[in-house]
Amino acid sequence: MAATTTSRGSWGSSFGFILAAAGSAIGLGNIWGFPYKASQSGGAAFVALYLICVLIVGIPVMFAELSIGRSTQKSPVSAFRALAPRSAWWLVGAQGVLSGFCILAFYSVIAGWTLGYLYMAITGRFTAGVSLEQSEAMFDGLRGNPAVVVLWTGGFFVLSILVVRGGVHGGIERASRVLMPVFFFLLVGLAVRATTLEGGAAGVHFLFNVDFSKVTADVVLDALSQAFFSMSLGMGAMITYGSYLARRENLPRAGLTVGLSDTAIALLSGLMIFPALFAAGATPTEGPGLVFVVLPTIFDAMPAGVAFAVAFYALLVIAALTSSISLLEVITAFFVDELRWGRERAVWLFGGVCFALAVPCALWSGFMDLLIMIFFDYALLVGGLFICLFVGWRWKPAGAIAEMRAEGRSFPGLSGWGLLIRFFCPVVIAIIIANQLWSALKPAGQ
Ligand code: PHE
Repeated sequence: MAATTTSRGSWGSSFGFILAAAGSAIGLGNIWGFPYKASQSGGAAFVALYLICVLIVGIPVMFAELSIGRSTQKSPVSAFRALAPRSAWWLVGAQGVLSGFCILAFYSVIAGWTLGYLYMAITGRFTAGVSLEQSEAMFDGLRGNPAVVVLWTGGFFVLSILVVRGGVHGGIERASRVLMPVFFFLLVGLAVRATTLEGGAAGVHFLFNVDFSKVTADVVLDALSQAFFSMSLGMGAMITYGSYLARRENLPRAGLTVGLSDTAIALLSGLMIFPALFAAGATPTEGPGLVFVVLPTIFDAMPAGVAFAVAFYALLVIAALTSSISLLEVITAFFVDELRWGRERAVWLFGGVCFALAVPCALWSGFMDLLIMIFFDYALLVGGLFICLFVGWRWKPAGAIAEMRAEGRSFPGLSGWGLLIRFFCPVVIAIIIANQLWSALKPAGQ
């Protein structure tokens, strides 16, 4: 760990940070969640709203989180304590650690499916012309086999633990430096293949031809919670990753790069999935099974389909891994910073405890859906709201701007950012949460 400058660890370079933070952001949310949400919420209308949410809420919150992290050089709970001593703001950090814990539990189960599918692809299960019904049966067969799912989930936990135990520079950054370029290469290859398939153009049309009549309040909140999840915001991952960033780096520029790469990758994954679907004559209505049910039916029809199947599920595994290590890092950093535990001990113990929570997720889809509803639909938005209120009203934008301008770095529009984070973002997030609660609580049919 030659580049480590403090005992907590730090990124070797700004590029190392960008790869690791982009690795956190780019995950199943982009490749599994984004196409799934887009297919449920009107295709291009969702995509347009998503882009707006990223630009006017996501990127500003990203700057806020990174500034909190870097200025304190601490993980979320300690960071809020340092900036607002003797107050209850640390609870925002604590909520983040809890969210990280619960998200990791359900995330690892889905990641476990991806490992299972990678194995099936390698062993040639998708070669013999799989029909939609057969594919559905395979997906249900995997999910309905507790021993197998728990095994794959456990395997995935071990992979994440092995990376995080290596530390910030020697584990997370090193893994990201290898995995992210491989990921990018696979994704571009698959997207080019899909868009050039006969009939693939309809998928591009579905993704980019906006019909605003499809925009409802539900689509707006779906787009915002998807943006928070996809950019790893609202639970302290970016506070934690920012805390390992050197002060000489241009923070807003790095944050913008991460946010825009995440968005570009979501679009690119849409360009991989929808053309492939339309080319195969399938309709994008499959829900969460989209990438697990529909895609296996089309590999067979492609030249070199096995290679593409292996590449696709390897892509999903990599995306999941670089994200889950950031979730595990938030939990680990909390125990290392707050309780002065050794990293090795914290990561095995809490990786293990989290796995124990993943087991019921793997066994009962109702429990998994409940965690997804609480932590995907609400917790990240609530966390994001409090982060805006904290930076806008307690720490004050001037404090964060001074941090972003540290060591003479400059970035345009930071005073406008201050206004967004103080007024606009919290109001938008609050309205969307209130609306979400309202539609969840009102009696059906009203
Ligand atoms: N951003 C990740 C994804 O898109 C998920 C994630 C959420 C990771 C929150 C860390 C924190 O899959």
